[in-house]
Amino acid sequence: MNILMNNENLSRPEVADIQEEKFETTLRPQHLSEYIGQTKVKESMKIYIEAAKKRGDALDHCLFYGPPGLGKTTISGIIANEMNSKIKITSGPAIEKPGDLAGILTSLEEYDVLFIDEIHRLSKVVEEILYPALEDFVLDITIGKGPEAKSIRLDLPKFTLIGATTKAGSLTTPLRDRFGIVQKLELYSVEDLSTIIKRSSKILGVEIDEASSIEIARRSRGTPRIANRLLKRVRDFASVLSDGKIDLKIAKYALNQLEIDELGLEETDRKMLSMMIVQYSGRPVGIEALAASLGEEIDTIEDVYEPYLLQIGFIARTPKGRVVLPPAYEHMGYDYQTKIY
Ligand SMILES: Nc1ncnc2c1ncn2[C@@H]1O[C@H](COP(=O)(O)OP(=O)(O)OP(=O)(O)O)[C@@H](O)[C@H]1O
Ligand SMILES: [Mg+2]
Repeated sequence: MNILMNNENLSRPEVADIQEEKFETTLRPQHLSEYIGQTKVKESMKIYIEAAKKRGDALDHCLFYGPPGLGKTTISGIIANEMNSKIKITSGPAIEKPGDLAGILTSLEEYDVLFIDEIHRLSKVVEEILYPALEDFVLDITIGKGPEAKSIRLDLPKFTLIGATTKAGSLTTPLRDRFGIVQKLELYSVEDLSTIIKRSSKILGVEIDEASSIEIARRSRGTPRIANRLLKRVRDFASVLSDGKIDLKIAKYALNQLEIDELGLEETDRKMLSMMIVQYSGRPVGIEALAASLGEEIDTIEDVYEPYLLQIGFIARTPKGRVVLPPAYEHMGYDYQTKIY
């Protein structure tokens, strides 16, 4: 498929999006053995996959959750691959009506994998169709309206649902309870990200030394998607400003030009931290107030910015709101003692 074919009709950001997507697909591992890090998830999935194959059965329904770009879509594809199953991909918001889901379910074949991204965004009516499908592999449909309406039950092939979400907390209990396998993806270590960067460089045909892959990894906020994106940008700098090889000097120069600091913080992170330190004088801040002051969506702050800031101990969640912690003061160049309450 040539997804770059009609570029001339697209605006620049759209072209960039498509290229980014194509780039992601190229770098996406196909087998569990190529999936770097997430050892706990990988080890248990290996067992569940082998056990299901041994029984000659479909794999239990799986739910993967965690911040964006950690590899939920990737591992779902890998699972289908390892199960020798076909995968059908859709997403919560794409399934608008119960009929849409009924159509998808009846098109499945035995042992297919159905991947629903952003599964927390399924509507209530659609979700209710899913319950019996997941539990008993049946589809209840109503034909006709009013007193004439008749309900019929169709058998479905045995399939595996894989759900992915950045918001496990937004899933309803009945839906969550129907997943036999629930796995949380964690932010990646610098070592794992460095391995991912080296793997991606090989695929892209770019030479990179160890120190540079670690430097990029350090600034990737624990996230493979960011690591790959930074690698791509650094590669551009290397190809224009030097001989194309990535060394520490060019890596640091490129990352600084991109305004990504030594910890991977970007402008929005820094704006958020200084706002919490200066404007709110270190007092707890509600997420709504923070979002309004930053001009960002609450979801974006919770899913994109917060996980990493929490992980590195720059902020904490308290019942009264988000608080900014001493290491953030130091990083941002403020004196923790001078805080005014
Ligand atoms: N464990 C891994 N090993 C190697 N590469 C990985 C790994 N996890 C993710 N990646 C890379 O990171 C990119 C983003 O991963 P993916 O699209 O699976 O994230 P996601 O969790 O589905 O994100 P979103 O929540 O935004 O849908 C992929 O293109 C893949 O190349
Ligand atoms: Mg995804």
